[in-house]
Amino acid sequence: MLLNRNFLTGILLIFLLLGALYYSNYLSYSFVSVEQEELTAESRRVEVHVQSHELHMVAPDHLKYDQPSIVSGRNDVVTVTPWLAPVVWEGTFNPVLLDSIYKLQNITVAATVFAVGKYVMFLKDFLETAEQHFFVGFRVHMYVFTDQPDSVPQIKMAADRQLTVLPVPSSKRWQEISARRMELIQKLIEEKLRNNIDYIFCLDVDSKFHGRWGTESLGGLIAVIHPGYYRDNRKRFPYERRPESRAYIATGEGDFYYCGGAFGGMLQEVHQLAKTCRTNFEADAKEGIEAAWQEESHLNRYMWVNKPSKVLSPEYLWQDFKARNPEVHIIRFSGVVKNYAAIRPNVE
Ligand SMILES: *[C@@H]1O[C@H](CO)[C@@H](O)[C@H](O)[C@H]1NC(C)=O
Repeated sequence: MLLNRNFLTGILLIFLLLGALYYSNYLSYSFVSVEQEELTAESRRVEVHVQSHELHMVAPDHLKYDQPSIVSGRNDVVTVTPWLAPVVWEGTFNPVLLDSIYKLQNITVAATVFAVGKYVMFLKDFLETAEQHFFVGFRVHMYVFTDQPDSVPQIKMAADRQLTVLPVPSSKRWQEISARRMELIQKLIEEKLRNNIDYIFCLDVDSKFHGRWGTESLGGLIAVIHPGYYRDNRKRFPYERRPESRAYIATGEGDFYYCGGAFGGMLQEVHQLAKTCRTNFEADAKEGIEAAWQEESHLNRYMWVNKPSKVLSPEYLWQDFKARNPEVHIIRFSGVVKNYAAIRPNVE
């Protein structure tokens, strides 16, 4: 009996000891294995799935440039939006630094223009000035949509730049030409640009470049402030004001009035924008509604919900007939003065 009890206690003690040993072993083992797993997943993600430059900018070592200041800079304009996106004005960026950063990324930039009907007359100046000012030194691919491929002028282009002409049918109404732009941009991205273009800008052809438009304008989703309304109260913005339209923006809503004549960003962002604006435009059309400024109204609605990651100041789309305001230190791109009656097919 006594022996038996001692024997049982001994067995119990051995089991307890083994259990404790096993548990502590298990704890340290599982702890180590979890840690190892996290490490490998983390390094795999960093090394394989994400290039450093997608998370932060990588500059070349030993690059010399002016010391940036944290206390002085432009104080006559706002250089950041309430959602902390930069607003690009002359004097807010260093072009040498930015170009060096994007050179390392070996980027390709596409630009689209629509030259339908008499608008082909603007192509020559647009293309020639783009050659002098638009992403000079970078790989650029221009896409010209036109109903008159034979009228596209031959422009001397630098070795790393090219132009592709894309035929489109003629249109009777300029509103229709404008409306189809989003559809054509969407299809171009889906069918031709996937995998070989990093950024795209969609620009009005009846304009000219007068100054640098370069890497400072790059980002996810890029909108340009319309030169006509940027000092106005938003209740005066020509947004679509009928609630029936999918471009509707109520009074007391809206950030800025963006122009339809220039927008861009990373390929997938512009694809999403074009697809959404096109869908909304077509759904409106089915119900007999055309937004006040067609695609521009839909673009403004899109940018109200999808905040642009960078906003370009009116330097990036001025209008030749407008006197330059003092805060505009440089005009980079500007709409030429035109006689609407002479170029738009359905204007008397
Ligand atoms: C840069 O990109 C072009 C076109 O995508 C490619 O042909 C070229 O090999 C790339 N250069 C480098 C150094 O990666």
